[in-house]
Amino acid sequence: MKKRALALISAAVTLITAFSGCNFEIITEETTLPDVITEGHLDNETTYYSLETEAREETTAAAETTSEEITTQDLNTEAEEETTEEQGEIIGYTEKGFVITKKDGITYVDGVLVANKTYSLPEDYNPGSLLPECEKAFFEMKSAAAKEGLNLWNASGFRSYELQSRLYKRYSERDGKEAADRYSARPGHSEHQTGLAIDLNTITSAFANTKEGKWVAENCHKYGFILRYPKEKEAQTGYMYEAWHIRYVGIETAGKIYNSGLCLEEYYGITSCYEDTAENEEPVASVTEAQQMTSAAADIPQEQPTETAAAVQVG
Ligand code: DAL
Ligand code: ZN
Repeated sequence: MKKRALALISAAVTLITAFSGCNFEIITEETTLPDVITEGHLDNETTYYSLETEAREETTAAAETTSEEITTQDLNTEAEEETTEEQGEIIGYTEKGFVITKKDGITYVDGVLVANKTYSLPEDYNPGSLLPECEKAFFEMKSAAAKEGLNLWNASGFRSYELQSRLYKRYSERDGKEAADRYSARPGHSEHQTGLAIDLNTITSAFANTKEGKWVAENCHKYGFILRYPKEKEAQTGYMYEAWHIRYVGIETAGKIYNSGLCLEEYYGITSCYEDTAENEEPVASVTEAQQMTSAAADIPQEQPTETAAAVQVG
């Protein structure tokens, strides 16, 4: 009788241990998951994807549990507080109602970094290269294009304030300031300084009619890029059509801008205009395509295919 009781107690203990062990394992997995993901985020694309999935799930779960308790006002306040934290102080709203924030001298519209004739970058803002998210997106796009037999390369990516100064000086001495302003950004106003812009392939208007140019125009938004200076938008962007200049804004925003048919300035309701350029000043000097495209800049580090013998240019 004693033996049977002992056997029963032992069986009960085994069962309890087994169940509690199982529970413990689940908790351990959940507890250690962030570490695994953090490592994978750096080294492993599969785990990186898991991180995105996890983040989406967390967002959905959070939205489900709180949606009944909070008001729209709360949401706005919360969003603005987050924006203020990540992208600095709110300095105003665009014509279309998007929030404008400023942090460390950099302007963000709806969280998207903006550099144009109106919004400048500090002289000492120097990421030194393309930002990782832009570079990653570029290689994804390049590899998708390659599967269709197309060759995309980065002809000019990051450019420092100093380099842009030298380029702008060269162009304005050659063509005059007003003409140069139509195709070259003044130092502190170039998107290339952000590390989020890339000039593709040949940097000539001929690029628009190549297979690569057509593919980029239709597909770059799927990788988070927009054509930054589209055709017939010079009045809004401040620059002539540049089929080769793409800007990383993230997939969601790129899709919205692409589908809107608007350029970035129109989409957000912002200007691109230098302070010293009054609307009623002298007419802007004309710039021939040849003038725009024959600007050699041999001091720019390039990633170009060896078969490209064309002079190095920037845009
Ligand atoms: N070509 C563009 C506008 C730049 O110089 O940044
Ligand atoms: Zn460019």
